[in-house]
Amino acid sequence: MSQGEQAQTRAMKSLAAVLLVAILLQLAGCSPPPDPVTCTDGTSNCTVTNTYGSFTDRTICHAANVVYPSTEQELVAAVAAAASAKRKMKVATKHSHSGPKLACPGGSEGTIISTTRLNRTVSIDAERQLITVESGMVLRDLIQAAAAAGLSLPHSPYWYGLTIGGLLATGAHGSGLWGKGGAVHEYVVGLRIVTPAPACDGFAMVRELGADHPDLDAAKVSLGVVGVVSQVTLALQPLFKRSVTFVERNESDFTAQVAEWGRLHEFADMIWQPQHNKVIYRQDDRVDVSAPGNGVGGLFLFRSVPTALLVGGRAIEEQLQENGTDIARCAAEQEGATRQLPAFGFTNDGISFTGYPIVGYQHRIQASGSCIDGPEDALLSSCAWDPRIRGSFMYNSGFSVALSKAPAFIADMLNLRDLNPDAFCGALDGRVGLVLRYVKASSAYLGKHEDSIDVDILFYRSRTDGMPHAHADVVDEIEQMALGKYGGLPHWGKNRNFAFDGAIARYPKADKFLKVKSRYDPDGLFSSEWTDQVLGINGTPNIIENRCAIEGLCICSDDSHCAPEQGYFCRLGKVYKKARVCSSEEDY
Ligand SMILES: Cc1cc2nc3c(=O)[nH]c(=O)nc-3n(C[C@H](O)[C@H](O)[C@H](O)COP(=O)(O)OP(=O)(O)OC[C@H]3O[C@@H](n4cnc5c(N)ncnc54)[C@H](O)[C@@H]3O)c2cc1C
Ligand SMILES: *[C@@H]1O[C@H](CO)[C@@H](O)[C@H](O)[C@H]1NC(C)=O
Ligand SMILES: *[C@@H]1O[C@H](CO)[C@@H](O)[C@H](O)[C@H]1NC(C)=O
Ligand SMILES: *[C@@H]1O[C@H](CO)[C@@H](O)[C@H](O)[C@H]1NC(C)=O
Ligand SMILES: *[C@@H]1O[C@H](CO)[C@@H](O)[C@H](O)[C@H]1NC(C)=O
Repeated sequence: MSQGEQAQTRAMKSLAAVLLVAILLQLAGCSPPPDPVTCTDGTSNCTVTNTYGSFTDRTICHAANVVYPSTEQELVAAVAAAASAKRKMKVATKHSHSGPKLACPGGSEGTIISTTRLNRTVSIDAERQLITVESGMVLRDLIQAAAAAGLSLPHSPYWYGLTIGGLLATGAHGSGLWGKGGAVHEYVVGLRIVTPAPACDGFAMVRELGADHPDLDAAKVSLGVVGVVSQVTLALQPLFKRSVTFVERNESDFTAQVAEWGRLHEFADMIWQPQHNKVIYRQDDRVDVSAPGNGVGGLFLFRSVPTALLVGGRAIEEQLQENGTDIARCAAEQEGATRQLPAFGFTNDGISFTGYPIVGYQHRIQASGSCIDGPEDALLSSCAWDPRIRGSFMYNSGFSVALSKAPAFIADMLNLRDLNPDAFCGALDGRVGLVLRYVKASSAYLGKHEDSIDVDILFYRSRTDGMPHAHADVVDEIEQMALGKYGGLPHWGKNRNFAFDGAIARYPKADKFLKVKSRYDPDGLFSSEWTDQVLGINGTPNIIENRCAIEGLCICSDDSHCAPEQGYFCRLGKVYKKARVCSSEEDY
């Protein structure tokens, strides 16, 4: 190692050490995330962004005004006001977590309807095991309300800062193949949705969709284009406990296990750490409530971190990305791995990890997100991605591959890794790895039509538009392989533009969805440029310009779409030859 590399590695080591101490100290305060909607003039002249603040100059989103209904009546009035003026509208949520520009009303003169104040429990029927909540309720509160009545939502995303309206609209999920499976929309048994209406009906109406209503399959995963969901009724189960063990194995049977593991354990998932040649299998099953244990699933990524550490960590990451070598990047990863919290931060008692299995109540295991809790501490600490500080900045790709094709897909990824293992150090965020979760086939028109494995990839994003990350070709090839070769479906709430190009054609029931959409919202008031592009109604989400492939705005077809000045050229994929990836010169 050169002196520079040694210095980088040393810096990384000391940073990792401080970070660990800080996390172990369980910081008390924490600045909750900023409001995604800001207006210069009260509730007029507004912009909306997402929780990462990643709507850049190109995707900046303006709206004429914002409204904050706190009852269904006020919501109906808000929709009616916009509809009577033929103004575009769109829902924004408390934190707006989707990466794509979904929260933006079309044009720049639209209305933002914020569901922040629609956050109450409407009713709980303990006997029939049903909960009805307003759509702006944050998952954390929903899970707590259910538990207080002795009930569980069996599956949910792992991050509890999402709202029920937003997570349904994008088809969000946890992991599981048993029963109805890992996606939350499978547990929806009723919705109340506010849509535009003819003038004679007052320009807006509430539609009540019961469990057997055919339109429920359009409304439960809707990208927000059929109206505003006002209330959601979910089928719950009696509160249960889970027993979780993270089993670390080599990759020898990874391809065989990918289709099997989900059948063996109710809450199974997998984490692949390609740079460490490891797979971590989540062995996670329901156990009787009498089983002893009070474990907590506090994933370390979702805890608050002191600002100084976030800024310092990012500076090192930027340096490693821009000027580091494979050796330095892999050394930093190795170091990070040795200092990781055990069990990803899960604990046996809310404080420390003392051994497997971790047994605890569903509501304390299924999701976490303590960085959104707690009082303002003037940004001394925050969620790692808080845009008000120069901390973590990432892309998050997420796509599903049918289970029947998953073994071949995994085999291809292993081949790609074996061609240049060191490339995987800088290419992917090393803190967790590739997360693989199970989602079952759904009747939702924009849901999965086959049992699938959903892959999540976090990777470095430069704050300079068009600046490549190290070994950008690795992620490019994995994504194109999943979507192109294996017919994968992009997660509606994640991904870069190109992933959605043509994807709607792979949804066999897309036409049924569009029919309901044009019945509910004939003038397309809830549609935007973005939703028209991804739904194949008008245009393409691809943007062809210099360096477009670096930002995932296109698949490269010319060197200028990469970053030739930084040594990144448009090349063929190494395993999937039809891929076109931005690759640094020295690889060829
Ligand atoms: C830290 C983090 C962790 C995540 N973890 C997971 C995970 O474990 N699993 C997973 O699947 N995804 C996960 N995601 C992605 C996430 O599921 C999606 O981004 C989700 O849609 C965001 O929900 P939200 O409440 O923030 O909605 P937003 O992003 O604000 O909204 C999403 C869309 O829904 C529409 N919408 C919202 N509410 C309504 C309503 N009431 N009526 C009509 N339309 C509405 C909005 O207009 C928008 O089009 C994660 C994201 C982050 C940032
Ligand atoms: C509207 O907001 C923009 C910034 O987003 C600002 O430049 C402009 O002056 C504002 N216009 C009015 C009329 O306040
Ligand atoms: C619901 O929203 C209101 C207004 O934003 C807020 O005062 C209240 O604390 C919220 N309730 C919960 C349970 O978060
Ligand atoms: C992988 O682990 C299995 C046991 O789970 C072992 O039999 C095998 O030898 C290991 N393979 C390698 C390459 O280490
Ligand atoms: C990388 O090196 C260049 C040239 O020495 C320098 O200008 C740049 O600031 C460095 N980047 C980082 C993040 O340190």
